[in-house]
Order: sequence, then structure tokens, then C-alpha cells
Amino acid sequence: MNIIKVKNYRELSYLGAKKIADQVAENPYSVLGLATGATPEGIYQHLASEYQKGTLDFSQCSSVNLDEYKGLSREDEQSYYHYMKQHLFSKINLPEERIYFPDALAKDAQEECRRYDEDIEKLGGVDLQLLGIGRNGHIGFNEPGDFFPAATHCVSLSQSTLDANAKYFPSKEEMPKEAYTVGIGVIMKAKKILLVANGESKREALRRTIFGKVTPQTPASILQFHPNVTIIGDEEALSFWND
Ligand code: F6R
Repeated sequence: MNIIKVKNYRELSYLGAKKIADQVAENPYSVLGLATGATPEGIYQHLASEYQKGTLDFSQCSSVNLDEYKGLSREDEQSYYHYMKQHLFSKINLPEERIYFPDALAKDAQEECRRYDEDIEKLGGVDLQLLGIGRNGHIGFNEPGDFFPAATHCVSLSQSTLDANAKYFPSKEEMPKEAYTVGIGVIMKAKKILLVANGESKREALRRTIFGKVTPQTPASILQFHPNVTIIGDEEALSFWND
């Protein structure tokens, strides 16, 4: 693992965006695995502004998102599709037909999971996967459990995740309790992984990810087995790391 400790969120966002921009410059046909949540917002802001300056071109790229709340339409303001539109897709030239998301309204959830994995396969897999991390060590919505689920699947969100994300919903009752997520196997097949984390609330999850035993109780710990992982954390999240 390549661990990079930066001073603060501003530096994390700048460096994270630079890694993605370098990937797109090196391979304009890159398949980008993207995450939502608070952490990547600054990265997306930088990418949008680089595009607007004319230094980045996403016209040949594809994007595959990690997860989506089950039952929310794309138009729903709390959907991750809406988040991506708002923070990135509406500001860059990534063609709509190359934006991949689970269809959260699909009638047959199992079939939808199978179809999503097939789409990712057809794209040739993910070149660079951007990840955040949950306070409980989840990646995507792969929550702590007894095994590492390989394929895209539906999950019941853990209490820790429901508590962390409730702030985005008008009330706790309106928050979906289930989500689609790509599996750990899909994430591990990405050629490169970039995990970003800031703030004290992520410290313990990061420490277990980097130094802990590899266990599905800390889903991100599996990244110890990936040959090309970069973790960018700020001073609070990586306070245990001396470089
Ligand atoms: C979101 C996702 C989640 C988040 C994680 C951290 O697409 O896959 O794993 O990355 O919950 O969320 P934030 O960045 O809001 O702390």
C-alpha cells in the first residue's frame, strides 16, 4: 500500500483529483470507478474545474458507480445518481451513455445485480477505483459481515451507516434501509485503487485497514491484498501513521 499523509481536506482533494486526472491523461479511455459521500466532493470540484479550464477531457471515459440506495429514482435528490450529476457529471463532458449505475427501481434485484456485473465485465473492468471508507470500515456499501461478498448485491445498511448518512435525508424514516453495492470481488479486480479519508472519525477504520488482520469485519482490510492501492488521508485520519 502506498500511504500518503496530507495536511488537510484541501490537500486531499487536490491530490486525489490529480491522481484521477493523471489516469485520464494516461488513458483517455479509462473506466473510472466512482464513489459518493462527503469525502470525494472536493475531488469532484477540482476535476470539474480542470475540465472547465480545458486541461481534462472525459469524452472517451466511462464511469461505474459503486452503489445506490434501493428504491430511489434517479431524479430523487437523495439518490447517488443525483449526487453524481450535481457534483460532477453536469460539469464535465462524460457522455451520458457511458455513465453506469445500478437501476435502483429494477423489479428483479438479483437480475439487476447480475446485469451490472456484466456491464462492468463488458467495459473490461475498472481502471481506477475511487473509494471512501465508512467509520465501520465499509467500502462501497459492503458492510462488516462474515464473508467478503464477491459480486454486486443488495445489502441491509448497518446502523452505523444509517446514522452517518441520516443527515442527507429529511427524516430517518425516509432513508432507504437497503442499497445496491458492487461486491468486494468487483472492487478488488480494479487495476488501481485510490482510497481517500479525512477526519478523526475515520482513524480507527483506517488503522484497521492498514495494520489490522484481513477480515470481513473490516471490509476495507481486504485492500492489503491488492497490488496497487494508494491511500490518501489527512493528518487526523492518519495520525497513527509516521512517514
Ligand atoms: C459511497 C460509498 C461509501 C462512502 C463511505 C464514506 O458511494 O461507497 O462507502 O465512501 O460511506 O462516506 P463519506 O465520504 O460521506 O464519509
